[in-house]
Amino acid sequence: MDKNCHSQLLSKVGPAKQTAPAATALNEPLQRRLEINYRRNQKQDHTQLLDEAGQAFSYDECRDSYWNPEAFSLLYGTPLWDQASDSQKMVLNQLYWVAYYSQIISAEIATIFFNQTSAAALYAHDGFRSICDMLDLESSQERAHISAFRAVAEQTEQALLGKRLFSYPMRGPFTETMIFADTNQLKRWWKQLQLQAFGLISACNSFLACQYFTVRGLRTLNGKLVQHQLSRYYQTHSDQENAPIPSKISFYHFMDESFHFNSSTLLSHEVIQCLPKPTGFEALVANLGIRGCQQDHRQFSVAVNGIFWHDPALYPKVYQLLRSHLFDMDDADAKEMIRVCFTQESEGVYRCYQTHREATAAYQAYLEPLADIWPSNRQMSMMAATSVETYLATQRRALARFLRVKEAL
Ligand SMILES: [Fe+2]
Ligand SMILES: [Fe+2]
Repeated sequence: MDKNCHSQLLSKVGPAKQTAPAATALNEPLQRRLEINYRRNQKQDHTQLLDEAGQAFSYDECRDSYWNPEAFSLLYGTPLWDQASDSQKMVLNQLYWVAYYSQIISAEIATIFFNQTSAAALYAHDGFRSICDMLDLESSQERAHISAFRAVAEQTEQALLGKRLFSYPMRGPFTETMIFADTNQLKRWWKQLQLQAFGLISACNSFLACQYFTVRGLRTLNGKLVQHQLSRYYQTHSDQENAPIPSKISFYHFMDESFHFNSSTLLSHEVIQCLPKPTGFEALVANLGIRGCQQDHRQFSVAVNGIFWHDPALYPKVYQLLRSHLFDMDDADAKEMIRVCFTQESEGVYRCYQTHREATAAYQAYLEPLADIWPSNRQMSMMAATSVETYLATQRRALARFLRVKEAL
């Protein structure tokens, strides 16, 4: 971009504000509601219970039970599920837990970083201390969540397969948040750069710091839709004391997250209104953030209902699982199973599509009261364009590629 063009763009959108405006103040009722959310979360904090649960987890003690409601099993409602034996169904149910929370770990590592950069910007305002304290508590809760998820995921995969399948070694906040995405080296590098730039700008810009919670709210909303159902396994268990530990972790986590969702909503819907109207630049960055979230969530996964992974990125994992002693398939059977599960209509495909539609509608409702949102974000047009037909067409193209590469090996 030449110098002239650059200054024209700046005069159009205006620069990011670097300092907190002096006039900003929270009104009394909002201040009170923020305090209440923070105090209640402090009082009900599940950190200790989660730490104890993670430490006490032993796969052997939980191996003979489901950990989620049956419908939340890996590839539920597909031909693999229909043909699986009872013990294989149990493994698919347990691996759903592992896969699901492996994704949550990645999202929460990023959340910890952006909670901190946002708190840095918001602390520049008088009267915002309790918001920052609330975010500190949430970050420390996320660390406890991550520890508990990792303890279960790693031990389970070791016990079942002797190696990792969906889990991964500890990572930093700038890696691609979606662990199975439609990506490549260049896209990953670009994403990392965007995350680093957003962290840098939002740490000294209170509008963008606050606006981060719109994106966090959308992501948590997606989590809430599924985790509410996962937590019901424990809530409705006839013997809660002896319920499998992973189901307890799902419940404790859901309890903490409901406060996180409240704070996202208070910050992105109400605190933001106490700040001056955004400049063109700030509105642009805000919308790009929402667009990024939409892009991440534009497809659904048939393997893990409620996680918006790009299924072709999962084929190698599913292939490994089918070839393992757990399913004991030969090469041809494993490939055929992948074909029928991912490229044909099934109850599983429709269930996962339905979850995606519910998420799209919930995101639209979440954005409804907000100002300065692009129509394509307000309507969640990328997500809304997804259908069973587009899903199957993507899978058929990708499967042909996957099989060609496998043949060539
Ligand atoms: Fe969490
Ligand atoms: Fe959270």
